[in-house]
Amino acid sequence: MTILAIETSCDETAVAILRGRNRQCGPELLASEVASQIAEHEKFGGVVPEVASRNHVAQLPCLLERAMASAKITINEIDAFAATSGPGLASSLLVGNSAAKGLAIGAGKPFLAINHLEGHLLSPFFGREKIEPNIALIVSGGHTILVHVRAELDHEVLGSTIDDAAGECFDKVGKLIGLPYPGGPEVDRFATEGNPKAYSFPRPMLSEANDDFSFAGLKTSVRYFLEKNPDLLKDSQKVRDLCASVQAAIVEVLVTKTTRAAQRLGVSCITASGGVTCNRSLREKLESACRKEGFSLRLAERQFCTDNGAMIAVLAERKLLKLAGRTSLDAEVLPGMSLATA
Ligand code: KG4
Ligand code: ZN
Repeated sequence: MTILAIETSCDETAVAILRGRNRQCGPELLASEVASQIAEHEKFGGVVPEVASRNHVAQLPCLLERAMASAKITINEIDAFAATSGPGLASSLLVGNSAAKGLAIGAGKPFLAINHLEGHLLSPFFGREKIEPNIALIVSGGHTILVHVRAELDHEVLGSTIDDAAGECFDKVGKLIGLPYPGGPEVDRFATEGNPKAYSFPRPMLSEANDDFSFAGLKTSVRYFLEKNPDLLKDSQKVRDLCASVQAAIVEVLVTKTTRAAQRLGVSCITASGGVTCNRSLREKLESACRKEGFSLRLAERQFCTDNGAMIAVLAERKLLKLAGRTSLDAEVLPGMSLATA
């Protein structure tokens, strides 16, 4: 079973080709192509949906060709076509969905609609046969969600952000400081040479007995702090200290709430995926907390933390094998699709 998957939920155009497992070996990723649109959106300081969908249309044909060339296969050798159908930007999702459906019709093969967040849940397990029960932190620009994964394709959402996602908070703080878009990687870079204890910022919802998050207030407190200290941005060491201090607040909340959920539910494995999982401090603090508290930790590899087609292909293969499922070609994209319904 060879699957071609397309991911166009936001501002990354991605295509992956996966050869499914057989009795001898597990699934093999034959190609994973990602075209980032950061340069396109940078001048607007954020993702512009119209620009994103136009770029998906422009990029997709060449990514499909590149993926097939690197996988060394032809379209006739593909057994199923999958695409992310939600959550995401409607006009972006439509591009990948229409392309995958068109290819499926042309080749006379099944089409599968895939939930983007469910794909993130699998990305820490690439190359592994078994999905062990875990508490999964999905942490990106659009989502901050804690999930109890009981088994493959069996999960329950424990909590999520009630306002901004953690990545959104990183990006907005980066913008307040005047760093290029997206702010997350820049704040991470500046924070490496900063003092995380230099300034004190709130740890939102840290002491609340639930699995929800909130990051809008933290961003607002950085804005007030900068209004009170306008000269701070002229001092590069103070900017580094500010980045490290804000990052420390975000990371402490993420790590504490994730490990607390694992303790409460008696789950011994923690996983993390989504763009913010690239953050060095988050990776380090999750590692040290898991070591201290006796949890095993699976972090998605950096190249698979951010949006990619591989996670969509892996999930499509598991769905085909387990549920023998295919999606009707009439199925619409679902921009507001939740993980609870996946
Ligand atoms: O998963 P992703 O590629 O797209 C979605 O939002 O679904 O995640 C992008 C987010 C952005 O907010 C970006 O700033 C953040 O991930 N990010 C980081 C880092 N690398 C990416 N945030 C903090 N530190 C990083 N190193
Ligand atoms: Zn994502």
